[in-house]
Amino acid sequence: MENTVIIDHPLIQHKLTYIRDKKTGTKEFRELVREVGALMAFEVTRNLPLEEKEVDTPLAKAKCRVVAGKKLGLVPILRAGLGMVEGITDLIPGARVGHVGLYRDPDTLEPVEYYCKLPSDLGKRDIFILDPMLATGGSAAAAIELIKKRGPRDINLLVLLAAPEGIERVHRDHPEVTIYTACVDQKLNEKGYIVPGLGDAGDRLYGTR
Ligand code: PRP
Ligand code: URA
Repeated sequence: MENTVIIDHPLIQHKLTYIRDKKTGTKEFRELVREVGALMAFEVTRNLPLEEKEVDTPLAKAKCRVVAGKKLGLVPILRAGLGMVEGITDLIPGARVGHVGLYRDPDTLEPVEYYCKLPSDLGKRDIFILDPMLATGGSAAAAIELIKKRGPRDINLLVLLAAPEGIERVHRDHPEVTIYTACVDQKLNEKGYIVPGLGDAGDRLYGTR
């Protein structure tokens, strides 16, 4: 699958198992999603450019390196994407956070937009859209559409689980977007849920069912 990266790190796979488990309660689910968000950020930022910086240690001058000021933007898709934000901002405090509110109509499975607030300097940033679930791909494709209108440098999609149908949809509509996922599951069921999946990510994060 072109432009799709499966992040197969053992810690991510371990935590994903407990995220999937229906016995995992809201508190632990939320903690795990946050942790996996951070671990995925660690992987997707491994090629960030560095520049030299000299500091005085207590003993001598040291030529060191810092991230070369590359501007990043995180855009969680509400609600469930919010669960991934703080794990990432813990590591990248300078990232700006925009929000796109979309819910999936349960009958048509089409995304319905209800909120959009994006960083004003989006054009100068590399964007990571965050959502635990890429199912039909309708929500992700709609979020990418909204963000594209503002001309970011680069758009990436970071999800915990993807269905093959969702990957195909995003690649068809937005071939330039790189998808990062911890796993590609088997299929969607007749209600558009990922199988085996993890259930309803928003409900499990916020205890609303
Ligand atoms: C879920 C999920 C994605 C979307 C994926 O959100 O978090 O945003 O469904 O499905 P799709 O790929 O078929 O569009 P949901 O609509 O349940 O809203 P919520 O996060 O507010 O619970
Ligand atoms: N949204 C979810 O939360 N879970 C799925 O399996 C599909 C869409």
